Formats: sequence, C-alpha cells, structure tokens
Amino acid sequence: MLTSLTTAMAVRQLRKGVMMQAISDIDNLRSVVAAWKKDGCQVGLVPTMGALHDGHLSLIEHLQPHCDRLIVSIFVNPTQFAPDEDFDSYPRTLESDLMKIEATATDLVYTPSAATMYGDGHTTRIVMDGPALGLESEARPHFFSGVATIVHKLFQQTSADCAVFGEKDYQQLCVIRQMVKDMALPVEIFGGPTLREADGLAMSSRNVYLNETQRHTAGKLNNILTKFCQSIASVDDYKKKTDKAINEILTAGFDGVDYLEVRAADTLSPVTDTSMQRRALVVARLGGVRLLDNMAVPPL
Ligand code: PAF
Repeated sequence: MLTSLTTAMAVRQLRKGVMMQAISDIDNLRSVVAAWKKDGCQVGLVPTMGALHDGHLSLIEHLQPHCDRLIVSIFVNPTQFAPDEDFDSYPRTLESDLMKIEATATDLVYTPSAATMYGDGHTTRIVMDGPALGLESEARPHFFSGVATIVHKLFQQTSADCAVFGEKDYQQLCVIRQMVKDMALPVEIFGGPTLREADGLAMSSRNVYLNETQRHTAGKLNNILTKFCQSIASVDDYKKKTDKAINEILTAGFDGVDYLEVRAADTLSPVTDTSMQRRALVVARLGGVRLLDNMAVPPL
C-alpha cells in the first residue's frame, strides 16, 4: 500500500495547485463537476460509508487510471440498514478518513448529510429483482433497495462517468451493474479486487467488531472457501461438497452459516451447466458479525 500511496501522491504533485476539496451540498458539488466536465474531464466516483481501510484505498487506486478527476463519497446510508441493525453504532471516523483520502489522488470528498440525501417527504425507492434476489436479501431484505437508491442518487449528483465497487460485496457489485444496464445510466462500473489480511480475511469496516478470539476464527473462512472452490468437480457432487464445507465452517468455531452457494458469476442466477463462469459466495456468522466472502470457482 505504501508504494501505491506514494504513486498517488506523485500524481497529486503532477496536478500542482489542485487541492482536495470537501463538499457536502449538491449545488456546490454540481458546479465543481460542471467545471471539470467543461474542461473535458472524465469523472470517477468511489462510493463509501467511511471507516476507510486499505481495501477502500485500493478501490481509489483501481479507479484512478480510468478518470481525470476522482470523487470519494462518504455517507452512512440509513436505508440499507434495518431497524435492528448497526446503523447507530456503525464506525464513523471522518477525521481519519479524510487524512487517508488526502494521501491519495482524490480531488473531492463528498460528505452529504441525511437531509441532503433524503429530504422531507422522500418516498422514491429503487426495487430490484434479478441479482438482488436471494443470498444477502434473505437476511437483509431491505438492503439492495437501499443500496441501489443511494448509488443512483450519487451517480446523478456527481455525474460520474465511472465508478468502482469492491468484489468483496460481490452481490452488491452485480446489483449495481444490473441497475446501470436497466436504467441505461452512462456510468462504467469497475469491480475492485478484494484486499485481504495476512490470514486471508477479507478487509471490512465491520471487522473491528471482532474480539481477538473471533478475529482468529474469522481468518479460517477464506481457507475453507478456497478448498471448497477447488473441490467442486461437477454440478452433481455440489450438494455433498457444500454440506462438507458448511460443516468445516461450523467446526472452525463460527456460530452459523447464512449461505454457501455457487451462482452464475455475472447474473447470480442458478448454475445450469458446468461450462458457465461460477462464483462461490458465503456468509458465516461470528458473535453477531456477518462475514462475507466470495471467489471465482476455477473452470472445469
Ligand atoms: O459498499 C458500501 O460501502 C455501500 O453499500 C455503498 C455502495 C457505499 C452504498 O451505501
């Protein structure tokens, strides 16, 4: 990460005189972006909910070669949390987030308020089928409607030409791609590879909820998923291998498995033949934390 941050700072140096701006209202945002567009700049967006870690910084780095001006948004979106979820306790670390972003090639940080994003009497929601069905939606039925709605708003407000979403939230990435296609939005979507801790745990803002013992257990999920992916020889023995992997996850000390499924990599529809590109997706629970992971299943 050090090398990449140094590179990003060098990029900033090359754009001497261009300071990173922090904006929280739509009108200011629009006038800055309009000036960029007038100069022919391509605008990139990295949507986040803050609590930034190296995974987010790698998304910024991933998008940077595809745009001339880069916006990072920070907004903890209430509509993607159910009333019993962690909206209130979700880590909010704006000061350190801004310091981390400052060291990248980001031009503008957009930090709208809840009133800006969901004004009085707000009623509009995007509701999706297709890749939004099943998996995360089983445990969090409200989630993708909240995500699609806020991301659509962010695309509209920033006039982004391209945006990046982490492959760590693979279903979210598929949902956004589908929304962009369905609504014919002029935004190119990139998937950013998952950044992992040394033991394979996918980086996530919610990992801070894990205590030391749970953190140790959490590191085993990726190893089990990797072995599972390598073991799937055909669609036929899939059920047996899935049961075995779920058993391994539970034996490793996890409290439960919400799902372990293999789906078509692009649409997340059921796998009907083994020549399809496949993606394995898992959620295991540990002390109230849902740990998500996924990976490509090697072709047969
Ligand atoms: O992945 C996230 O951090 C959020 O779901 C997103 C895309 C920023 C929308 O709130």
